[in-house]
Amino acid sequence: MLIGPEIHAERRARFFAALGGAAAVIPGAALATHHADCEWPFRQNSDFWYLTGFDEPEAVALFLPHRPEGERYVLFVQPREASAEVWHGFRWGCEGAVAQFGADIAHPRSELAERLPGYLKGAEGIAFRVGKHPAVEPLVLQAWAGQLDSAPRSGLAALGLVAPCPLLHELRLRKAPEELARLREAARISAEAHELARQVARPGLRERQVQAVIEQHFLEQGARGPAYGSIVAGGDNACVLHYTANNALLRDGDLLLIDAGCSLSDYYNGDITRTFPINGRFSGEQRALYELVLAAQEAAVAAVAPGQTAEDVHHTAVRVLVDGLLELGLLAGERDGIIEQGAYRHLYMHRTGHWLGLDVHDVGAYRLGEHHVALEPGMVLTVEPGLYVSDRLPVPEGQPAIAERWKGIGIRIEDDVAVTDHGHENLTAAALKAPVALER
Ligand code: GLY
Ligand code: MN
Ligand code: MN
Repeated sequence: MLIGPEIHAERRARFFAALGGAAAVIPGAALATHHADCEWPFRQNSDFWYLTGFDEPEAVALFLPHRPEGERYVLFVQPREASAEVWHGFRWGCEGAVAQFGADIAHPRSELAERLPGYLKGAEGIAFRVGKHPAVEPLVLQAWAGQLDSAPRSGLAALGLVAPCPLLHELRLRKAPEELARLREAARISAEAHELARQVARPGLRERQVQAVIEQHFLEQGARGPAYGSIVAGGDNACVLHYTANNALLRDGDLLLIDAGCSLSDYYNGDITRTFPINGRFSGEQRALYELVLAAQEAAVAAVAPGQTAEDVHHTAVRVLVDGLLELGLLAGERDGIIEQGAYRHLYMHRTGHWLGLDVHDVGAYRLGEHHVALEPGMVLTVEPGLYVSDRLPVPEGQPAIAERWKGIGIRIEDDVAVTDHGHENLTAAALKAPVALER
């Protein structure tokens, strides 16, 4: 079930309550140039989408708690225009913004500059994210400057410009049941794609042929496409964390790391990584490292529960990895000292996860000052430890040189995990990861 207008209306009600007397200006995304006069497919801004469900470019939403009822939710949109719609497709226009999307009032986007000062008049503050919206920011600043100039006579001026993010991202961080249902759907499609990819992968194929199978499944299942640039990385390419060239041949004896997830029509995302032997059999070194990453990942997933923190989850993974690397002779010394000094980071250089939602690296604080944010039911995070053995980073002083037989092995295992009342739900468990399931 798609998330409908009534859900967006509930979200707006919660956002209004959080704003108090401040007005908020929340711009949607514009089209981005791919090259020359060709554009990327449109991708709505997630904050704007969360509150409006409106999926057209160049829109701006105003939330005006200081205005009378019936004038508080205002959308500026591209108006209906036959000649533009012939080229670019249907627009809802001002009428649709009101009738379909619940706006109290809607205006053409071209009228924003002229109307914004009037709408912001009387607000206690202005909630607007500076630094992100170059087309709208000067209009907001001019409107506020105008208020300040006339304040001695009008007696009205917003006291400050505030960031809407803490309020809005607090809401987005805790997923409602209908959002969890959408994340389960994104996880289902993404997990199926990984299973298909493993079935087709074999020596001699190109990485991008496997990418095609994954992304075909996303589209067939009704998703918009990949949530981020799919990573299909054979052998040593897996040691490049954001590898997206996907153009190498898959080699007999190498592992294949695939980090791919779909984005649904309403932008909820999956984000899964699996790593498996291309020829269906792990070598001794590959199996040793794979089992270690899997042990770290399973321990870290098990640590996801209310009251724990993302930092606890990360440290759980790091402890298991460092213990295992000591046993394998890839690290030397004493565990706690190695962790404190970060002397494992030439082998594991990223964090163990991130929030997941409408953005793949979703919004929400991980810490507030010194305090790590405690996990609560409804939060969703990825758990994705890995090991990447290559010469790219120097071996820290005091740590052993890496024998050739380990090099070119890159492994990551990533699941999407929702915090529940008493523990967690692994949304992506359908993508198999036990060694026995990966061998043939
Ligand atoms: N694919 C991006 C990530 O795993 O964070
Ligand atoms: Mn991730
Ligand atoms: Mn990922």
